[in-house]
Amino acid sequence: MANSLYDFGMIGLGVMGRNLLLNMADHGFSVIGFDKDASKTAALESAATAGTNVKGVAELATMVQMLERPRKLMMLVPAGQPVDDVIASLLPLLEQGDVVIDGGNSHYTDTLRRVKYLREKGIHFMGIGVSGGEKGARTGPSIMPGGDLEAYAKVRPMLEAIAAKVKDTPCVAYLGKEGAGHYVKMVHNGIEYAIMQLISECYEMLQQGAGLNNDQLHEVFKSWNDGVLQSFLVEITADIFLKNDDKTSQRLVDVISDKAGSKGTGKWTSQDSMELPVAVPVIDTAVAMRTLSGFKEQRTQAAQLYAEPENKIHATADMWIKQVHDALYFATILSYAQGLAMLHEASRELQMEIPLPEVVKVWRGGCIIRSSLLEVFTQAYQQNTNLPNILLDKGVAYLVKSVEANTRSVVAQAAQAGIPVAGLMSALSYFDAFRTERMPTNLIQAQRDYFGAHTYQRIDMPGTFHTEWQ
Ligand code: 6PG
Repeated sequence: MANSLYDFGMIGLGVMGRNLLLNMADHGFSVIGFDKDASKTAALESAATAGTNVKGVAELATMVQMLERPRKLMMLVPAGQPVDDVIASLLPLLEQGDVVIDGGNSHYTDTLRRVKYLREKGIHFMGIGVSGGEKGARTGPSIMPGGDLEAYAKVRPMLEAIAAKVKDTPCVAYLGKEGAGHYVKMVHNGIEYAIMQLISECYEMLQQGAGLNNDQLHEVFKSWNDGVLQSFLVEITADIFLKNDDKTSQRLVDVISDKAGSKGTGKWTSQDSMELPVAVPVIDTAVAMRTLSGFKEQRTQAAQLYAEPENKIHATADMWIKQVHDALYFATILSYAQGLAMLHEASRELQMEIPLPEVVKVWRGGCIIRSSLLEVFTQAYQQNTNLPNILLDKGVAYLVKSVEANTRSVVAQAAQAGIPVAGLMSALSYFDAFRTERMPTNLIQAQRDYFGAHTYQRIDMPGTFHTEWQ
């Protein structure tokens, strides 16, 4: 090896850690990875591109000693206690000025705590969201760094080198103070949950409503991906329908259990939206539907108890496919709108200074929610960098209005036919409430005052009022 010291270190050589490190090596950085599991250090070295400088070690201290100062290292370990455990073992080995990055899906409040704790010891701690799965990690993820600007400057060249590129712009940018990186990644995942839920509802509507088989579903999603719905999630959905099961003669998707898993980031987004507060009902619904999917036994019993409505979809198959397409486009925009509105509020409330124009640019490539819509939103933020909700942008409004009628038609027909489309309905209801100057919540205020003397404000004069209702 030419240089005895390495540019960057990785703690945890699971799929993401290994591939990110190899990506760095592919861009000319010398890298070293630590994992207690010898098979993982071996896998790292054997997967390295010929001519790159990659080393795997089984001792943390060895890795730390072999890093160029100030040290730059990242951990990619499961969120929660493992991150604190790594910090505890690292601390005696580090020196002032070193940069430690948590690249996992940590909760931003944990990141805040760790930033403060390590700052007192002179160590820069950064929470960075990384999206793109295994392939993205190796060939170009979307990277969402937050925290200390001084520390960011030290790792910026590396992050820019390995990130996905859109029109030569790297999908990485400084996204705000303290826990902002993990906050943005959390909301990214909330939007991811919402869009996945919506796509699954479209799958159901196309199967039940138009009787499409897997080959036809593949064709429909493939053609959607060639149009305004172009996105990573629509693209992989098209692929999924063609995959054969290697254990039966069926398509794999048909033998997969409908109990959906989750690791918690979608739930965190919902929980945090309520803390702020800001309304993200499509994300809430997506979390709830994954939860409901787990109640398989009760659903099986209920299926015996409640007959399906006799109504069928009345549109022709071609018309239905077009309407469902438009409804997905509508609700996808609404999902981004809610997530971005949450970031807008959080940025202010939690003093994170999240630059939304940069967030949408970073999401254009590499991440799970990348889609052609991000270009539209990038333009919207160019018009107004402080847009509180993208639905208020004229360009976005034009797109939403162009698919509004078909969305209403889809929701109405799905309701008549008994097809569960909670995400879609939620998107439409949010839209209808959001575009209403006067909501019926005056009645809620009256009720609160009636039973609890909670007081209310009037529309015709300032002040706070209470009435003896009885
Ligand atoms: C990504 C993904 C990734 C992962 C999440 C969500 O951006 O690459 O969001 O972080 O898919 O862990 O997974 P769950 O669906 O298991 O919560």
